[in-house]
Order: sequence, then structure tokens, then C-alpha cells
Amino acid sequence: MSGRINLLAPEVRANPYAVYAELRRHAPVCQVDPGGYWVITRHDDVVAAFKNPQLFSNTGVRLATKPEWLGHNPFADSMVGLDPPQHTRLRNLVNRAFGPPALARLEGRVRHYAEAIVARIPEGREVDFVDAFTLPLPASVIGELIGLEPSLHSRCKRWADDLTSISANPQDEKRREEILAAVRETEAEMAKVLALRRREPREDLVTDLLQARVDGQSLSDAELMSFMFLLLVAGLETTIHLLGHCVRVLMERPDVLARLRADHSLIPRFVEEVLRYEPPVQAFGRLTTAEAVVSGVRIPAGAPVMLLIGSANHDDARFPDGDRFDMDREGVNNLPFGHGIHFCLGAPLARMEARIGLELLLSRFERFTPAGPLEWNHSFTVRGPRVLPVIAHGP
Ligand code: HEM
Repeated sequence: MSGRINLLAPEVRANPYAVYAELRRHAPVCQVDPGGYWVITRHDDVVAAFKNPQLFSNTGVRLATKPEWLGHNPFADSMVGLDPPQHTRLRNLVNRAFGPPALARLEGRVRHYAEAIVARIPEGREVDFVDAFTLPLPASVIGELIGLEPSLHSRCKRWADDLTSISANPQDEKRREEILAAVRETEAEMAKVLALRRREPREDLVTDLLQARVDGQSLSDAELMSFMFLLLVAGLETTIHLLGHCVRVLMERPDVLARLRADHSLIPRFVEEVLRYEPPVQAFGRLTTAEAVVSGVRIPAGAPVMLLIGSANHDDARFPDGDRFDMDREGVNNLPFGHGIHFCLGAPLARMEARIGLELLLSRFERFTPAGPLEWNHSFTVRGPRVLPVIAHGP
């Protein structure tokens, strides 16, 4: 291999796995474009880096950038951009609010939203499944989770898009204004939710977060706000793409579709293999705190590094014939949700959304056919369909 790979080149976006395989073989740790990031591509190296937050730090990861024009970044101090001991304190405070009782409480709400969304999908004619299914379900669930009124749920995606584009530090004045407006609007709505739950506690996540205590300590107002921003960003686009990949695999593999329709108890197994085969989070950033040697390659101190989950999940050394979709694989693979101290808080919720959404889709429709070209989103850290034209056929 010669020259740096550009992970945003259109041919790489269409199928990054061929490029990842080349990298694992010939340059398992190297610098890529855009940005000159170092990438770690082999499964065991990625896991080892996740396990070593002292050397591969989360401080300074992309969400935490603070461009001057922004004034303040609402999630600059959120837990995903912190190392121990600050991370440990916050994680301990929010962990319980995401435990099994909280999840059980949410299940009925997820089903309620999913039923209404699946019932609205038109039968037998072309529809963009991102608009009709993969976006509205996670948007409603995340909106509900952070306590927003249902009338605001459809705004969540635009807010999340504006907030994540802070990290690109746009130079365009108009774009900066849009982002600033989204920050103000989101902050105002979340402040209303916090004030309301203080006055009238409910059985919900925001109330649990307001009441959370560990060793007599609670979350400050700024920490609460930061965390709600983080949920909006971390829980939305990721789950949209998980659902999009599920639908795409169902269209490509009639054999798999037939098995799932015949036996819904296979759906969780299917979802796990989709998460391995097409992980929505393809890469997560770290910053080296000292020189690191990985697969014999020296990465200097202070270097931005991408742990390539997308590559690790296709590594034949861990998953034989890794480029093949095979829902009968044995063994647990949690890597799509990270590993170690920052392991995804929302993993059980994302799995539940996918399970319930698919159960309802497969109960209503018999098969799904492509109705036009799929368009991929433009990012090498989060991957999924931006446009997914589908015809859903009834029984
Ligand atoms: C962290 C993936 C859904 C909330 C992470 C990380 C990954 C990930 C890879 C690790 C980041 C790191 O190591 O620094 C995913 C995927 C999802 C998903 C693939 C869907 C398929 C969700 C949902 C929520 C959520 C639904 C919330 C409702 C979080 C939070 C963290 C996190 C708060 C930070 C945890 C910490 O720093 O300790 N996620 N996520 N995620 N995720 Fe998710």
C-alpha cells in the first residue's frame, strides 16, 4: 500500500471493509486522511487500547472541542470526554438511572411509539425508510428519555446534527449561527424539563438523575445539562443507523428474513450480528498521553488515534470469514458499543428499540425490496444510510 488512505473517499464509504482488510494485513497501525489520524485496525489491538484509558485518553476527543466562536460547548464536560477520576464520579451517578428497572419502565413507551410508526408505513409503494422508520423511532425514544414533549421529538435530529457539527469547526458564518441557535433552543427546552421535574417529580430518567446521590454527592446543573446533550447526540444517530443496517440486511438476505418471520425469538441474535457486520459506530477517538507501541508501530505522545471498531469486527483472527453475515456465530461481541470504562450506557436501550421495531415490522410486512439507490452518510466515525428507498410488501 502506498500513500495515505482517505477514509472519506466515496469508494471507501461504499465499502470500507475491503480497505480495513488491506490495512489489517499491510499497515495495521498507520495515519489516514482526513485529519492525519492514527488508526488501530486489528481486533485485539483495538480491545487493548479501549482497556487502557491511561495511555489512550478520552480527554480531548472530538465532542469536547471548544471553538472560540461557540462561547461554551454544552457537552464539552460530558462524561465521554473525561478520564478517571472525573469520569468515574459521573458514571457512578448516572449508572443506576440506566439499570434494568429503568429499561423495563421504558419498554412500554418504546412499543407505543414503534406501533404508531410501523402502522403509518405505506404498503406496496416507495418510501424512504429513514423518514418512515429508522429516524422517527429513535427520535421519539430519545425525546421521551430526556423528557421532551412529543411535539418536540421531530426536532431532535436537527438539533443533534447541528450539535455534532461543532466538532467540524465550520468557518461559514451562517452555519455557525445555525449551530448557536440550535444550542440555545436545546438548552432552553432542557432547562424547562429540569425545572418542571424539580417541581413535579415523575417516574422517569430526568427525575432519577435529579435525585441521584453517590457518597452524598449529586450532579450539578451544568453536569445534568451536559449529560442530556450527550444522550441526544449519542443515542440518536447511532440507533438510526442500526435500524437502517437491519432493514438493508433483510432486503439482501431473503433466507434470513424467512427465518426471522418464522421465529421472532431469533431477532436479538440477528441484531447482534448486524451490530458486528455493520457497526453504526465505526471508529471512536482517543488521544495518546505518552508514546504507544501497537503491533510494533510507534504512535507519538499527544497523537489523535481512531480505534476502528468497523475493522476489528471484520478481523478474521477473531471472527472467521468476518466479511460474511452469519447470525449463527457463537460468542458475545460487545465491541460495537465500545469496551471498558466508557462502555455504552444506552446499549440495552438500543437493542430493545431494534428488537421491538423489527418484531412489529415483521408482523406487518412480508418482505422489503429496494426502490432506488441507498445513499450513505458522509462520515467515517458513524456509518449508515442517509436515504434508504424501500417498498414494504404486505402478506
Ligand atoms: C458510549 C456506541 C446507542 C449513550 C458509547 C461508545 C460506543 C457507543 C462505541 C463508547 C465511546 C468510548 O469508548 O469513548 C453506540 C451504538 C449505539 C448506541 C452503536 C446504537 C446502536 C446509545 C443510546 C444511548 C447511548 C441509545 C443513550 C440513550 C451513550 C453514552 C456513552 C456512550 C452516554 C458514554 C459513556 C461513557 O463515557 O462512560 N456508545 N451507542 N448510546 N453511549 Fe452509546
